[in-house]
Amino acid sequence: MEEEHAAGIHPSFAKVIEQKKRIKDRLGNIKNKIGVYSAKGGVGKTTMAVNLAFTLAKKGFKVGLLDADIDCPNVASFLGITEKMDISGFPLKPLVKDGVKVASTAMIVDDIKKPIIWRGPIIAKMLSDFFENTDWGNLDYLVIDLPPGTSDAPLTIMQLLDLKGFILVTTPQRISSINSLRSGLMAKRLNVGILGVIENMSTGTISDNTKSMIDALGTELLGTVKFSNSFNRYSDNGMVTVYNDAGIADEFEAISKRV
Ligand SMILES: Nc1ncnc2c1ncn2[C@@H]1O[C@H](COP(=O)(O)OP(=O)(O)OP(=O)(O)O)[C@@H](O)[C@H]1O
Ligand SMILES: [Mg+2]
Repeated sequence: MEEEHAAGIHPSFAKVIEQKKRIKDRLGNIKNKIGVYSAKGGVGKTTMAVNLAFTLAKKGFKVGLLDADIDCPNVASFLGITEKMDISGFPLKPLVKDGVKVASTAMIVDDIKKPIIWRGPIIAKMLSDFFENTDWGNLDYLVIDLPPGTSDAPLTIMQLLDLKGFILVTTPQRISSINSLRSGLMAKRLNVGILGVIENMSTGTISDNTKSMIDALGTELLGTVKFSNSFNRYSDNGMVTVYNDAGIADEFEAISKRV
């Protein structure tokens, strides 16, 4: 600590830098870390993250899926995973579903139905400790499902993880494109790249709202995913939609090619 002071770095800040380095080392064997994000809730971030991860796995890539939504960790539920991660030793090992490594804070809490009511600093600490202590091994892709908002958790993720970039999820409505624009501008401000946009719950033809949001961010459309009851039918029952609906699998195949 004396030395850090001597170097002009405050001890508490030096700790953050050290942890960031440990996280970088821990995730060092992952080729591409991709965040799936929108500041708006309910647009289908988790749905896109899960189905993209399994599409990439089906193509033969080594894939991990990280649920970074502490308040409402839904990935495990979408995949029908009720098992818990073994927390008796460190580092933690993700669980494996159909060849995809999956980790979520839902897998280390006793009762998933209990609300998690934490202030920002606790969320940031939980996320950084979870990143530091989960061993993914070698991966081609780590797909990260982000929570909505433009503060605590998304900010921590943007600052701590060396992301290849974000996939922004939006829906055809104006309010969604406004919030996705906000998300994209936040990413740019924090120097995180934008890989492109998925228009979810789409008619199949990109809406004017999405088009102007994409233009404003200077990014591109990765693809559209139509509104379909299959998502409820399969994800409500812990099944992967792209493994069960050929039409939706085609939509994700097109998106994965652009990613
Ligand atoms: N293309 C679609 N067609 C029909 N339903 C969909 C579609 N995409 C997602 N859904 C449904 O919409 C609901 C919200 O999706 P999801 O949980 O993926 O959104 P989210 O953006 O992750 O939400 P949150 O902001 O709470 O994390 C889910 O019930 C999901 O099954
Ligand atoms: Mg979600």
